[in-house]
Amino acid sequence: MAVERTLSIIKPDAVAKNVIGKIYSRFESNGLKVVASKMKQLSRADAEGFYAVHRERPFFKDLVDFMISGPVMIQVLEGESAIAKNRELMGATDPKKAEKGTIRADFAESIDANAVHGSDAPETAKVEVSYFFPGMEVYNR
Ligand code: CMP
Repeated sequence: MAVERTLSIIKPDAVAKNVIGKIYSRFESNGLKVVASKMKQLSRADAEGFYAVHRERPFFKDLVDFMISGPVMIQVLEGESAIAKNRELMGATDPKKAEKGTIRADFAESIDANAVHGSDAPETAKVEVSYFFPGMEVYNR
């Protein structure tokens, strides 16, 4: 197992619900360390650029509209197998399908308002971390 870094976003729905601390606590109690963080109101260009891989998907406009509907909390998480660990803690993209006890099962309402985003692979983690924290060196192999 390797120490990795992954990008995590607490989305506008979870920020509005005032559960940033509860979500951070899940990261911390499961071996993930917050090594960078910032709260940010994304511009449309920020959100479109971040989700550029989804540009052709039918849900793209709704996704971008939602992501700019309020501030988000953006963090880099570090730990053993951080990418997979964070995805396990988040649960399935659709909260209705997310396992009990996961962040999305506990805090999310719908596939758009699904509380959190997490990078899905080492390559995307690298791109996503540098999108929001450009100076940060990442050693995911
Ligand atoms: P996220 O992990 O942030 O990555 C892309 C987001 O698009 C996803 O979470 C969902 O919030 C949103 N989305 C909306 N509809 C879909 C869909 N049908 N499949 C995947 N993602 C979707």
